[in-house]
Amino acid sequence: MTERTENREVLPTEEKYHPSMGSFEKTYRDSIDHPDEFWSKAATILDWDRRWDRVLDESNPPFYKWFVNGKLNVSYNAVDRHLLSHRRNKAAFIWVGENGEEKIITYDGLYRRVNNLAFALQNLGIKKGDRVLIYLPMILEAPVAMLAVARIGATFSFVFAGFGASAVAERIEDAKAKMVITADGGYRNGKIVELKKIIDEALEQTSTVSNVIVVRRTGHSVSMQEDRDIWYHDVVRDGMNYVKPVEMDSSDPLYILYTSGTTGKPKGVIHGNGGYAVWVANTLKWAFNPNEDDRWWCAADIGWVTGHSYIVFAPLILGLTSVMYEGSITYPEPDRLWEIIERYRVNILYTSPTAIRTLMRFGEKYPKMHDLSTLKTLGTVGEPINPAAWKWYYENIGNSKCPIIDTYWQTETGGFVIAPALGIGLPPLKPGSATFPMPGIDPVILDENGKEVKSGEKGFIAYRKPWPGMFLTLNNDPDRFKSVYFEKFNGKYYCGDYAVKDNEGYYWLLGRADEVLKVSGHRLGTIEIEDALISSREVAEAAAFGKPDETKGESIVTFVVIKDEFKGTPEMISTLRKRIREELGPIYVPDEVHIVNTLPKTRSGKIMRRVVKAVFLGQLPGDISTLESSVSVDEIRTAIETFK
Ligand code: WT7
Repeated sequence: MTERTENREVLPTEEKYHPSMGSFEKTYRDSIDHPDEFWSKAATILDWDRRWDRVLDESNPPFYKWFVNGKLNVSYNAVDRHLLSHRRNKAAFIWVGENGEEKIITYDGLYRRVNNLAFALQNLGIKKGDRVLIYLPMILEAPVAMLAVARIGATFSFVFAGFGASAVAERIEDAKAKMVITADGGYRNGKIVELKKIIDEALEQTSTVSNVIVVRRTGHSVSMQEDRDIWYHDVVRDGMNYVKPVEMDSSDPLYILYTSGTTGKPKGVIHGNGGYAVWVANTLKWAFNPNEDDRWWCAADIGWVTGHSYIVFAPLILGLTSVMYEGSITYPEPDRLWEIIERYRVNILYTSPTAIRTLMRFGEKYPKMHDLSTLKTLGTVGEPINPAAWKWYYENIGNSKCPIIDTYWQTETGGFVIAPALGIGLPPLKPGSATFPMPGIDPVILDENGKEVKSGEKGFIAYRKPWPGMFLTLNNDPDRFKSVYFEKFNGKYYCGDYAVKDNEGYYWLLGRADEVLKVSGHRLGTIEIEDALISSREVAEAAAFGKPDETKGESIVTFVVIKDEFKGTPEMISTLRKRIREELGPIYVPDEVHIVNTLPKTRSGKIMRRVVKAVFLGQLPGDISTLESSVSVDEIRTAIETFK
């Protein structure tokens, strides 16, 4: 059994690291006992155009409204207001290209760029409520685009630039995007990723987009469709065009971010303005306690919620200086992160367990090549961190003096929900535990029947109270919002994870309780992969599931049944993998594709993925009483053995 599997299934020891720094208990109690006062004060972290009438409207659960009738503009809060202070000439971003190129942009510079793009968007007819899809690599135009769209009251949907054409098309359709902002290409491991080409393919499958703005990043030749495609540098005049920020209601949408669920269609998580902005800015302060002059580096991709909340909105609202890195963490060498920390004297590094495990494999030699002494706090996010990786990070990167802030949260939660709170009283740390809830978060661990379990027992984690950063709804699907998240436990928010609370009240997150995979911290739906396989003309049946992986957390395993007429076709496996790469994107490509003659099904014809997985992993298949009589588990086992 790998150490990681142990972490997920067994409660680790009580071993503690790092001295405690005060007690967060009082702040936490205040947030639960006096929420109105607490959140009224927390909301002053923003500049509001109009103060809210009420902190929380709970009259129509689960459609909660925070800061009712409060008006604000988040882009104003992230950019304009710093111009009135000493921060005007402060660096907002220190951007590092994969090729080592550097760009430093001040708050004043960010203001100019955001206004110029907002002006261009308005001239192209984008207005409040319109949807703009952003498909950009990690370049400065990415935050600029998000802030420009928010400035004019439109809603952006950022699609991670690692997604393939069908995945992009599905999101364009669901969001009814009027415009796409993309680049000719992006750099990854020294190679060009053809972003514009992928958009061209996606637009062949959709009909809502009237314009595509294309940033020139790589300079390689791309096709531009007349009347539809426009170069960024042609449409964005680099003068100074002021655009008045549009006053938004606290509960108006700010963005839609698609995430995987347990059914085929990705869920369009909608975040609002007021509650979300209050939440991300405060949680960053509570958890990491950054100082005015700290250099903050959230080494995630901006296309995921981590980047939205903690590269763009929270640090900018707080007026911090962020490092933003374009490329791969192992390019050109596995010391890339450490080199950047030394060069830019980074104070806080926030990355993922997968990144730590990847870099750990290359050994201590690489961090030792660099001066990491400016670091004072470390963070992780995306999946449970196993104690061995935690300790390696603590000792070799943090020199046994930096607390590790293990932040547990989700796309839906907007920001951290369980994390050690350096800013309001750090508890002693236990490697592998995200420790205690953030203010306002009221978790409970339940059994299948909704009964609270005893400490030390594993159950489903749910939340008894709404919090300001929680998502507003799912795009086009309020019923699914209600049924997926609030029905299982009678109105409590259920997030799909297993957890244990130990006898000292520490929370240990144990991974997904549903059929969602966590591959390198990315959340992928098994059904999305199966759908893509089945939509290939060669495939009759498919089952996908995750297998524990020492570096990536999970790897993707698929079993397929090939239609008779294609049986024996050479290169079938590589054809299928290539197709998934093109349609869904490289992160979805299965690590293993096994071809079998039959898959276990229920009598009603439903493929029993759980049985395939259990047999594959050598576990007990559980209840197989509904298994179709003609297929026995032994037969499957033999089939699997043959193809292993
Ligand atoms: C799922 C959410 C949170 C932003 C990035 C991922 C898992 C996330 C942790 C953590 C244990 C974690 C959960 C959660 N997860 N952080 N610190 N410890 N598990 O966002 O794609 O919405 O995924 O990631 O399973 O439900 P996401």
